[in-house]
Amino acid sequence: MRIAVLNGPNLNMLGLREPELYGPETLEQIEQAVRARAEGAGVELVWHQTNHEGEFVDLVQGLRGRAAGALVNAGAYTHTSLAIRDAFLAVRVPFVEVHLSNVFAREPERRHSLLADLAVGVVVGFGGLGYRLGLEALVSHLRARGT
Ligand code: DQA
Repeated sequence: MRIAVLNGPNLNMLGLREPELYGPETLEQIEQAVRARAEGAGVELVWHQTNHEGEFVDLVQGLRGRAAGALVNAGAYTHTSLAIRDAFLAVRVPFVEVHLSNVFAREPERRHSLLADLAVGVVVGFGGLGYRLGLEALVSHLRARGT
């Protein structure tokens, strides 16, 4: 089973970026921990990060036929990007939305996601651990569906 992890803008700055909100881990450290979990579950992981909306759309379109599911932290595009929403509507690949911070406890504009109603589920507020929890939930969802 191949799972893609799609990370949006500014997540390459984790570790430096507002650690009181996002925690001390770098994206590379989160990736290593998720990779270890994926290996243990017999899952092949493909990891991406981009700061560009159009590139994010390309990544979503590229999931079709190539990944059984995706873990998605679209960063600020979560709250703004109809284009990314449309890409998920087009490809219909099951995904779990992840946020390091508890977006529901933050500014009003972060409390709405343009992706969440399309997701299998959402994990928020657990820092890097949320990626591992999201992976576990996605894999068990896909296996229950017989993927
Ligand atoms: C985030 C939350 C977003 O609101 C923010 O723009 C990010 C990170 C999170 O993981 O908590 O870039 O997606």
